[in-house]
Amino acid sequence: MFTVIEGLDGSGKSTQVQLLETELSEQGKTFLHIKLPDYESPSSALVNMYLAGEFGTNASDVNVYAASAFYAVDRFANYLTKWKQAYESGTDIIADRYTTSNAIYQLAKLPREQWDAYLSWLSDFEYGKMGIPQPDKVIYLDMPIDISQKLMSKRYAGDESKKDVHEKNILFLEQCREAAMYTASKWNWHIVSCVRQGALRSREEIHEEIMRIYQAR
Ligand SMILES: Nc1ncnc2c1ncn2[C@@H]1O[C@H](COP(=O)(O)OP(=O)(O)OP(=O)(O)O)[C@@H](O)[C@H]1O
Ligand SMILES: [Mg+2]
Repeated sequence: MFTVIEGLDGSGKSTQVQLLETELSEQGKTFLHIKLPDYESPSSALVNMYLAGEFGTNASDVNVYAASAFYAVDRFANYLTKWKQAYESGTDIIADRYTTSNAIYQLAKLPREQWDAYLSWLSDFEYGKMGIPQPDKVIYLDMPIDISQKLMSKRYAGDESKKDVHEKNILFLEQCREAAMYTASKWNWHIVSCVRQGALRSREEIHEEIMRIYQAR
C-alpha cells in the first residue's frame, strides 16, 4: 500500500505523518516514510533554484512543464536510490508530498482550459514514462489559506523572508487550493478538512480521521 499525505504549505502534513508513524510503530507495523522534495540530495538542486526564485521571483514566471520536470526527476532519483526495493518487496510506503504536489502547484499556474491536458500529461510523464509508482491512496489535508499562513508565520517566528516563492503569494495559494479541489475530484483523493465551523481542529482529531482512511483497504 502506497499512501500520500498531500496538502498546501503549512496544512499539517509533516505533523500528521509523524502522528501516523507513531501510531503505526506502536501497533508494530512496518512501513517506510519518504519526504519529497529530497532537499538533502543533489537531485533537488533545480527545485531549490526554483523555490529560491532564481528563475523568477513569481512562481508563475517559470514554465509549468519545466518546473514539473524539476520535481519529477527528484522523485525519480529518490525512488531509485531510497525506496524502490522496499516498495517492490511490498513494504507500506507513506509519502509526505509526491507527484500530486505538481497537480496542485503547477496546475494552478495554468488557465482552466488546460487543466485536463496537464493532468493527463503529468500522470503519463511520471507514472507512465518515468515509471515511478502511482499511489494507492492520496489523503489531502484541506486547510484554509488564512489559517495556514498564520501557522507558518508562527513557525518562521515572524520572519516572512523565510517563505519560498509559493508560500509568500497568497493569491497564488488560493488558486492552488482550487487546483487541489479539482484534482481531488478527478483523481479520487480523500479530503480531510482541517477546520470545523471556522475553527482549526486539533491535531489528534485530524489524526483519527486520517487513521480511519489509512486503515480502510
Ligand atoms: N491541527 C493543528 N492545530 C494547531 N497547529 C497545527 C495543527 N496542525 C499543524 N499545526 C502546526 O502548524 C504548522 C505547520 O504544520 P506542518 O509543518 O505539519 O505543515 P506541513 O504541511 O508539513 O508544511 P510544509 O508544506 O511547509 O512542509 C506547525 O507549526 C504545526 O505544529
Ligand atoms: Mg512539512
